[in-house]
Amino acid sequence: MGILLTGGAGYIASHTAVALASAGHRVVCLDNLLNSRAEMVERVGDITGQAIPLILADIRDTDALQQAIRDHGITAVIHFAGLKAVGESVAWPIAYYDNNVRGTLSLVEAMAVCNVKTLVFSSSATVYGLPLYLPLDESHPTSATNPYGRTKLMVEEMLADIAHADPDWRIAVLRYFNPVGAHPSGLIGEDPHGTPNNLMPYISRVASGRLQELSVYGDDYETADGTGVRDYIHVTDLAQGHVAGLRAIGTGDRPFAIWNLGTGRGHSVLEVIAAFERVNGVSVPYRIVARRPGDVAACYASVDKARSELGFEASLGLQEMVGSAWRFERMLRASNT
Ligand code: NAD
Ligand code: UFG
Repeated sequence: MGILLTGGAGYIASHTAVALASAGHRVVCLDNLLNSRAEMVERVGDITGQAIPLILADIRDTDALQQAIRDHGITAVIHFAGLKAVGESVAWPIAYYDNNVRGTLSLVEAMAVCNVKTLVFSSSATVYGLPLYLPLDESHPTSATNPYGRTKLMVEEMLADIAHADPDWRIAVLRYFNPVGAHPSGLIGEDPHGTPNNLMPYISRVASGRLQELSVYGDDYETADGTGVRDYIHVTDLAQGHVAGLRAIGTGDRPFAIWNLGTGRGHSVLEVIAAFERVNGVSVPYRIVARRPGDVAACYASVDKARSELGFEASLGLQEMVGSAWRFERMLRASNT
């Protein structure tokens, strides 16, 4: 299959490109490099031994998308491109609706014109809002507490409507929990522009001395040690989840399906810090500060549906997550000096 990855130079897409190429797919990346570097796609080529084309384009440019689909014989699209910072979405809602909602509309328009109707969409556990029960299964009610989450919900609903109106579509919505870690080679990983919002890249930068100390947002939650609990999933496991999701939606008879991608177990912030220090032999200075507005105490997935319908199960634990995150950080520092 010829598979187009929108946002293909980004963190999750680059790891998925490795998994798809290794599974025998032909991969083409498209990105406007708003939050990534072209070099990451070259590194995917180094890892897989396959040169991966990178098209420099914006998903809101429908003509460019049509041309990419036609020129490269694309048969399916995995749609990663988008903005993803919760705080930023509160400050700049127009940019978020424009990029995430209008961008997706532009993509499905281009796909419809080219009669390419197999799509996998990067959604998020954020669509579950405040957990009413745990673990979160795919039937848990959805809601949004910020513009970023609302863009994900809107897109999910838009895609469900499209599949309902035309059952030739094959649309898989993958709800990621907390992707972390890096490819074992250390060549690709998470390197956000600016100060990281997420825990693992922040820890990596503190450990390497690029940032001074980590703020732990609250130790008074109703969790075992009082800090927030999340379902961290290794990004190479997550990448395999896309290969499984694409296979299941493409070969099945349902036009629309939703799957969680997580591990089914949670780790607290203090557990992640302790694992990072122990596995990597480094120190991560931290300070407990007030809770971050909008954070929930605990969030972890029910993985039953992905296990039974995709045959997907995450295999890597916290040790591999923190070890690979640190390997990538060190390689990054070495290549920048
Ligand atoms: P990322 O920022 O590394 O990747 C997104 C890529 O999309 C970047 O390379 C960026 O340059 C590109 N992009 C943004 N707007 C674009 C546009 N208009 N046209 C073309 N390219 C554009 O982020 P990521 O962590 O790899 O996330 C990928 C997807 O997964 C996003 O949709 C995100 O919302 C979703 N997601 C991420 C997480 C997470 O914690 N990382 C969790 C849940 C869902
Ligand atoms: N945390 C800190 N200090 C930091 C950063 C995070 O203590 O500097 C804590 C948070 O309070 C939380 C945990 O670490 O308890 C994880 O926080 P992240 O920001 O890494 O992840 P979130 O669970 O808040 O959110 C992530 C993505 C969202 C997505 C969600 C569910 O950022 O986009 O996972 O998939 F919606």
